[in-house]
Amino acid sequence: MPRFSKAVSSLRSSEIRDLMTLASRPDIISFAGGMPGNDLFPVEAVEELYRRLDIKKKQAAFQYGPTPGLPSLLESLEGFLEKKGLPVKENRLLITTGSQQALNILGKAFIDPGEPVLVENPCFIGALSAFRSYEAELRGVPVDIDGISIEGLRQEISRNEKAKFLYITPYFHNPAGVLYTAERKNQLIATLQGTNIPLIEDDAYGDLYFFEGDQERLKPIKAINPDGINVCYTGSFSKILGPGLRLGWMLVPEKIYAKCELIKQSADACSPSFTQVLADAFIRSGQIYSYVASVRQEYKKRAAAMVAALREHLPSYVQWDEPRGGFYIWLTLPKGTDATRIVTLAIAGGAVFVVGKTFDPAGEQNNALRLSYCNNTPEQIAEGIPIVAQAIRAVCG
Ligand SMILES: Cc1ncc(COP(=O)(O)O)c(C=O)c1O
Repeated sequence: MPRFSKAVSSLRSSEIRDLMTLASRPDIISFAGGMPGNDLFPVEAVEELYRRLDIKKKQAAFQYGPTPGLPSLLESLEGFLEKKGLPVKENRLLITTGSQQALNILGKAFIDPGEPVLVENPCFIGALSAFRSYEAELRGVPVDIDGISIEGLRQEISRNEKAKFLYITPYFHNPAGVLYTAERKNQLIATLQGTNIPLIEDDAYGDLYFFEGDQERLKPIKAINPDGINVCYTGSFSKILGPGLRLGWMLVPEKIYAKCELIKQSADACSPSFTQVLADAFIRSGQIYSYVASVRQEYKKRAAAMVAALREHLPSYVQWDEPRGGFYIWLTLPKGTDATRIVTLAIAGGAVFVVGKTFDPAGEQNNALRLSYCNNTPEQIAEGIPIVAQAIRAVCG
């Protein structure tokens, strides 16, 4: 038996990854994957942008680039982020290989084996596995419809061993779909101030809002720029252009940036120049704005189709909230329900989703499930939801 490191031994196979194998079966309607619909990618627009690049840019696309990112992309992305009110001049921007890498780098920067970190419960599985890979002790804090529980956070903060950071996804949470209220963000800021606990603010979905009136709730904590908190803001091109580009970013205070740049250098030297050139052209052409506006409408339609189907078919004991943006609806089932039994039946019937315990930092709580509406047409949603509802009834009565 090869003698693996302790850190690697603590890694578990992700249930999402296992289910992806099933999700790719053509006869199954998949509500499992958190990926954009293939039919929505701006394939022709990007082809045209590439064709129009001058030869020097095309050559640079094939070449290694600087570790922090191609200067032209750093500049155009700063413009994009400044429009959200983010303090780009007072911080440093680092292009990463997906925002997954940003989370991994931040994990490496802060965590020593056995040290506690605070995460939401439920929490994005990619963050859990990144922090687990540095042998963090994951401490989950409950999330309700307005955001993270402040009472739960206070309890965790008052414990003896201080957490190394708090990780949150306040804008269309994965998996819970929650959009934090402005009030909850302010309470969170007040609770963190003076604790010397940095905040990792993951904004992978904030652009995919359905209601213009939600702007105040969508304002990043990083843009509020609160005194006395080191906010590490992460974002991604995955949901606003395509995950295949493998491009994300972090916007962090200078001192944290310096460590992160060194970590990235040792991980992959630089993110793909080829896709950086494309993302840069996409921003500079202004198409990113019109494209995001169009996919927002499409996801809103898909979400509405799922809401209508859930209203029609779900038993009343299942709790859920209508999404205000993003990709997900989170169903809470009666206490003690095992969602794995439900997914097994649903797969037999022809639909798949992700079970709740995947997102539990302790990997136990399983009376919930995540449905994604992003990757299905309204027709597929109308066909698939009754299968899920029937499986729920078969298990819960
Ligand atoms: C909340 C959240 N953060 C980060 C990511 C990572 O995205 P990527 O590495 O593609 O940028 C995802 C992907 O689904 C996500 O849901």
